[in-house]
Amino acid sequence: MYVCVCHAVTTRQISATIAAGADSFGALRDTLGVGNCCGKCCKDVRAQLHRECGQPGRETCRPPA
Ligand code: FES
Repeated sequence: MYVCVCHAVTTRQISATIAAGADSFGALRDTLGVGNCCGKCCKDVRAQLHRECGQPGRETCRPPA
């Protein structure tokens, strides 16, 4: 399922990135680009991060241009 439509990022890609060591929202943002366009995916990315590794993912999204 797509989480970030702007960058066509799926829940599987996020899971794989977390499994590979990403342990913060910033790491997911830097690796996959999530949250750096419209920002609408931030809540769902943070929720998945919290579910899968217990991190709250409090880093802010880049504001929309
Ligand atoms: S849906 Fe992820 S930045 Fe727009």
